[in-house]
Amino acid sequence: MGREVKIAPSILAADFANFGKEIRAVEAQGADWIHVDVMDGHFVPNLTFGPALCKAIRPYIKSVMDVHLMISPVEHYIEEYAEAGADIITAHYEATDHPHRTMQAIRASGCKAGIALNPATPAESVEYLLDSIDLICVMTVNPGFGGQSFISSQLEKIEKLKSMIGSRQIFLEIDGGIDSKTAPLVVAQGANVLVAGSAVFKGGSSDNPSVYGENISAIRNAFE
Ligand code: DX5
Ligand code: ZN
Repeated sequence: MGREVKIAPSILAADFANFGKEIRAVEAQGADWIHVDVMDGHFVPNLTFGPALCKAIRPYIKSVMDVHLMISPVEHYIEEYAEAGADIITAHYEATDHPHRTMQAIRASGCKAGIALNPATPAESVEYLLDSIDLICVMTVNPGFGGQSFISSQLEKIEKLKSMIGSRQIFLEIDGGIDSKTAPLVVAQGANVLVAGSAVFKGGSSDNPSVYGENISAIRNAFE
């Protein structure tokens, strides 16, 4: 039994020299999932992790490895991230001409399938995908970097998606600018997975992990 609203720290804000320790620390301090931001320097203007890194950190993750692919083309790499141990693979709606095929490929790889929407992409775009996905990721910043400000125009989109999802078992994940001020706003619209980078890792370290616990509690207490 997991918590009703999950907090998924993004290791984009962790110490890059210490991923294993950082992951153990945030999980011990209350993280529900571990969010891994994969960027290709093409779909987004930043470069981060390949499948080898995902495979290397997998043994440290006891919870759920939530891989967010900000890469285009995307289909070619799905199998590699699945083999690296992803539990959930999320691809961008904007990264392919054939999002439905991409979702099928993710499920065929044995992972749960997520579709991510850039701020400019309307909720209705994914209507035809609702029976083929396990997660919708609403970007509340322009993807590419941590530490950006929350784009509040996305709140209406979250509400719309929540009602489109209805009784289906689909996670509604919010990614970008989540902290103790914005978390209650998105939970009120129906979000049930909150990605947070800066707000979880700020001020702490794997040698001083209780700060991560305080940061996670501050976010959780703001909406519970
Ligand atoms: C942005 C990434 C986010 C980001 C969140 O492209 O997808 O996961 O790391 O970071 P914060 O919480 O700092 O906005
Ligand atoms: Zn992300």
